[in-house]
Amino acid sequence: MQHDRRRYRITGGRPLHGSVTVGGAKNAVTKQLVASLLTSEPSILTNVPRIVEVEIVLHMLAELGTKITWLDAKSLRVETPQITSPSLSELYSGVNRIPILMMGPLLHRVGESSIPLPGGCRIGKRPIDFHLAGLREMGAEVTEMPRSVTVKTLRLEGAHVTLPFPSVGATENILLAAVLARGTTVIHNAAVEPEVLDTIHFLQQMGALVSVEVDRTIIVEGVDRLHGTTHRPINDRIEAASFAAAAVATGGRVEVRGAQQEHLVTFLNHLRKLGGDFRVTEAGILFYRQRPLTAEHVETGVHPGFMTDWQQPLVVLLTQAQGSSVIHETIYEDRFGYTSQLNRMGANIALSTACLGGRECRFASKDFPHSAIVMGATLLCGGPLEIPDLRAGFAYILAALVAHGTSEISGTRYLERGYEDPVGKLRAIGADVETVPVSSDNT
Ligand code: EPZ
Repeated sequence: MQHDRRRYRITGGRPLHGSVTVGGAKNAVTKQLVASLLTSEPSILTNVPRIVEVEIVLHMLAELGTKITWLDAKSLRVETPQITSPSLSELYSGVNRIPILMMGPLLHRVGESSIPLPGGCRIGKRPIDFHLAGLREMGAEVTEMPRSVTVKTLRLEGAHVTLPFPSVGATENILLAAVLARGTTVIHNAAVEPEVLDTIHFLQQMGALVSVEVDRTIIVEGVDRLHGTTHRPINDRIEAASFAAAAVATGGRVEVRGAQQEHLVTFLNHLRKLGGDFRVTEAGILFYRQRPLTAEHVETGVHPGFMTDWQQPLVVLLTQAQGSSVIHETIYEDRFGYTSQLNRMGANIALSTACLGGRECRFASKDFPHSAIVMGATLLCGGPLEIPDLRAGFAYILAALVAHGTSEISGTRYLERGYEDPVGKLRAIGADVETVPVSSDNT
C-alpha cells in the first residue's frame, strides 16, 4: 500500500498562462514495456514519462528478469534475456491492470505463468473475464484462484475471439498472446484507441504481422520470433486534455506542447461548443476561453468517442458553465463518485441511474449511477479534498484552481501515478500550488 508523499495546497482564482509540455502516454508506454517481454533482445523506448506507474511496471519487469537502464531522462532500455521467474508476486495484487497483460508473453517465453489479480477499484468492478476467455480460446489452460490466476500451455494457437465490448485491456492481452501464436487470430469488436494502435505499431516494429480493419477487427498472423526495436510512444492525450481544461476553466491561455489534434478531435469539438477554443501551433495546441461557458451534453464512449478519462476535468469545466449539462458515462458503471466532494465545494451535480441524453447503453435498467446533471454556473469554495482515483485527482486540482480560497488536497499518490511533475507544470503556468510534506502535517 502506497502512501502520499505530500499534499497539495492550492489557492484558486488565478488564470493560467504560459506553456506546458505533455509526456508520453502512460497507457501506451506501460503496455509496450510488457510487449518487450516477447523477445530476449533489447528494446528502447523514448518519450517515457517519469510517473509512478512506470516505476511500478519496471519493478514488476525486474522481478521477471528484465534488465532496465535509463539511457537519459526519458529513454529506457529494457532487455529480458531470460525469464528468471514465471510468476509475479502477490504483492502486486490489486495494484494495477498491467500484470494480466504479461500472461501471453510469459506463456510464449516459458509456457506458464502465475499473475496476481488486478482487483476492484473505485470506478467500477473492472472484471477480467474477456481477457481469460480470449486466452482460453487460444488454448491456454486457465486456473483462477482467489488472489491470482495461473495459465499454462504447450503453445498458443490462433483463434477467432469476439469481445462482448471493445475492451482496451482485453484487446491488448489477446494481441500480445497472438503475435507469436501458431496461425491467425482475429479479434472482433476490438478496441482501437490510439494507445492500442501505438502498441500495434511497436509490435509491428518488433516483427509482428497485425492489421486493423475499419470495422474494429484486428487480424494477427502469428510469427515465429520477434526482435528488439526502438520506439517513441505517442503523447498523453489525457494529460493534454487535463491542461486544456485548466486553461479554459481558469479563463487563461495555455499552449499545451505535444498535444496532438488527431488524438483529441472529439474533446476539441466539445470544448469549442461549451465556449473554449484552440489554435493548433507548431509545438502543440493553444487553449483559451472564447466566451462565457455554456452547458453541454456529452456521452463518453470508445474511440473515436469522448474518452471516459476526459470526463472528470470536463465535469469541473461544466460547473462553471451557464445552464444544465448532462454527462452520460457508458464505459464505467460507477465513475461519478468523485462528484460528491465537488458538491461540498459548492457544485450542483445530481446523479441518475437512467441513460440521460438519448441513447441507451449497456448499463440501462441496472441501477448504476452513470449519468450526471451539472447545474451551473456555481461558485466553488476551497476546502479539504481527498483524491479517490487518478483522473478524479486532476478534476480536484482543477476545482481548486477555479475555487475561491485555499484547498488542501490529499491522496496525491493517485495523481502522481499518471501525471508527471504536476506541481512543477502547474506552477510554470502560474498556479498557486504549494506542497506540504505529509510527515510534517499533523491533520
Ligand atoms: C484502460 O483500462 C485504461 N487503463 C483506462 O485508463 C481507460 O479508462 C480504459 O482503458 C478505457 O479507455 C489502462 O490502459 C491501464 P477496458 P482497461 O477493458 O483496459 C469492461 C486511467 O486512468 N470489461 O477498456 O481496464 C470494464 O469493466 C485508466 O488511465 C469487462 O467487463 O479498460 C469496463 O466497463 C482508468 N471485462 C469496460 O469493459 C473485461 O474482461 C472497458 O474497460 C474487461 C473489461
